[in-house]
Amino acid sequence: MGILWERIPQCLGRAAELECSLTGTWVNDLGSNMTIETVKGNGEFTGIYNTAVSVYPVKIKKSPLLGSQHLPDQLNQPTFGFTVNWSFSDSITVFTGQCFVDNDGKEVLKTMWLLRSHADERGDDWKATRVGYNKFKRLE
Ligand code: BTN
Repeated sequence: MGILWERIPQCLGRAAELECSLTGTWVNDLGSNMTIETVKGNGEFTGIYNTAVSVYPVKIKKSPLLGSQHLPDQLNQPTFGFTVNWSFSDSITVFTGQCFVDNDGKEVLKTMWLLRSHADERGDDWKATRVGYNKFKRLE
């Protein structure tokens, strides 16, 4: 009963939110694109990330992503997170963000990321993690 009462103000406040769906193809401010497949009933999803840039001068390849979101029946503009395991480097990136609908009715993913590079020596650990921001628009 207590839990129900606690949820009522949240539901009322969010009733007007337009729905934002992660499924589809997105492009970010760096020119990278990603495709997110169907989100499963438990909020988990997979996809493919094609980065436009790399820390290393190597041939870029498409890489798998694995993520999870809050369920759309509870939140129309859900928070989410996903990991990209780069297939052409020893690095891993984790993204976390929220799916919004902007004032023009367009969906936008506002994310922050941590990119962990492989440290060749223990002394290099302190400089092996980069942080940044990416905004994604749906590729029409
Ligand atoms: C690497 O350089 O080892 C792998 C590629 C990393 C690409 C980063 S992840 C964060 C940022 N957003 C992108 O779309 N690409 C870069």
